[in-house]
Amino acid sequence: MFSKILVPIDGSDNSFRALDAALLLSEKLGAKITAIHVMEEIPVLHIQSEKLLRELLDAYKKERQVILTKCVKEATGKGISIDTKLLHGNAGSIILDFCEKEKYDIIVMGSRGMGRFRELVLGSVSNKIVHHSTCPVMIVR
Ligand SMILES: Nc1ncnc2c1ncn2[C@@H]1O[C@H](COP(=O)(O)OP(=O)(O)O)[C@@H](O)[C@H]1O
Ligand SMILES: [Mg+2]
Repeated sequence: MFSKILVPIDGSDNSFRALDAALLLSEKLGAKITAIHVMEEIPVLHIQSEKLLRELLDAYKKERQVILTKCVKEATGKGISIDTKLLHGNAGSIILDFCEKEKYDIIVMGSRGMGRFRELVLGSVSNKIVHHSTCPVMIVR
């Protein structure tokens, strides 16, 4: 039933705990894992130099890629090979679309992420996915 697992990763401890849970599921069920990171728009309106803008965006992309490399390392350490995907746009929408298009069986994600307002149980991305996903969602705290 759960042969393809999608793990949205934002670099937060919660998201890495979600990866750990997914790795455990993968070990037990032989499921394939994809760790996905969505690069959100960064406010660069006030930068006029195209060169500086390009350098900044390149550095941002590299930084985001490191998050996914960390996932691969963690999985490899447990003898599991995983796929990674780096996309950009609105995180919630992109994850939902990718999940549906690639027919994942379950999404395993953190309850909260890098956001600063800690009083809510779910963050905006996890909230959106719990509400709109057509496949099961496992929320890891
Ligand atoms: N940009 C992103 N790319 C991939 N996954 C994400 C992204 N942002 C959040 N997530 C996933 O959603 C979970 C909850 O994060 P989020 O809803 O953004 O909470 P917060 O408001 O605390 O940042 C994270 O643990 C992670 O699994
Ligand atoms: Mg967030």
